[in-house]
Amino acid sequence: SKVTIIGAGNVGSTLGQRLVEKDIADVILLDIDPGRPQGLALDLMEARGVERHDRTIAGTDNYDLTQDSDIIVVTAGLARKPGMSREDLLKVNAQIVMEVTQQAIARSPDAIVLVVTNPLDVMTYLAWKVSGLAPRRVMGMAGVLDASRFQTFIALELRVSIKDVTATVLGGHGDLMVPLPRYSTVNGIPITELLSAETIDRLVERTKNGGAEIVSLMKAGSAYFAPASSACLMVESILFNQARIVPAAVYLDGEYGLADIFLGVPACLKRDGVAQILELQLTETEQAALQKSAEAVRQNLDLVAS
Ligand code: NAI
Repeated sequence: SKVTIIGAGNVGSTLGQRLVEKDIADVILLDIDPGRPQGLALDLMEARGVERHDRTIAGTDNYDLTQDSDIIVVTAGLARKPGMSREDLLKVNAQIVMEVTQQAIARSPDAIVLVVTNPLDVMTYLAWKVSGLAPRRVMGMAGVLDASRFQTFIALELRVSIKDVTATVLGGHGDLMVPLPRYSTVNGIPITELLSAETIDRLVERTKNGGAEIVSLMKAGSAYFAPASSACLMVESILFNQARIVPAAVYLDGEYGLADIFLGVPACLKRDGVAQILELQLTETEQAALQKSAEAVRQNLDLVAS
């Protein structure tokens, strides 16, 4: 299989490394930064003598090399610079995501598109719009990461193996995400049976601030190891038709009472993309939180459209 990663930044290059070293796919790493994708790809090729795998990774600025990709991962974008408002960043990244998606889809019309660039839910919608693809072939990565963070904090708190921990997070990627303790378990036991409400609240807040916590620890830059792992899991489920159930930003058409929006909900990922959306029973509070998250995404979509 062939995966194109657009944007050879921290997330894109780490994802490229995981995909080849886990023997999942051959990779094309594309970036506009002159020499960067070429240099990173050569470096990763030279690691093969030690890692002992036969996957290939090539760096380029030329979309022709991305032809016939099975999956296109969009990580291209800018980080917020001093003096730049969230709104400015939104518009800049919207331009980038729409342009790179169009370029890539023109060469790989049968691909599946996985968006990583923030603000995630808005960018996924825009990528879908310009791609002309069926909605199930476009999705965004955020929930896997948010759930993995929640799982991490649950496992640390209870001092149990993370292998037995599951977590469910709905909604947009950002302050308004909706972690669901009732649907988060240790070996099938809801954490609401194992932890006090106060402790759960603390873990939920830490999950919501997961990205910001890492930004505040680093002098520059933001999280990329766990984001790359999360995107890798989605790519793997799609390419190998694994039918993994993951929270992903997918197109909603009436599910959860929402329509014409990409938002994080549990989805089953197979070779054709989103094979199924799981509709959970939500309490009124949970449904209201999801609604609020959807409204924030819609406001940003309106900003881009204006
Ligand atoms: P980065 O700044 O390290 O990499 C971005 C790369 O995109 C740079 O190499 C840049 O040259 C490239 N780029 C910019 N415009 C381009 C264009 N028109 N064509 C091709 N390449 C272009 O950033 P990082 O850390 O890799 O993050 C990438 C994006 O992913 C950001 O928007 C970030 O906010 C987002 N992100 C999303 C997460 C999620 O859960 N959805 C988690 C982590 C990051």
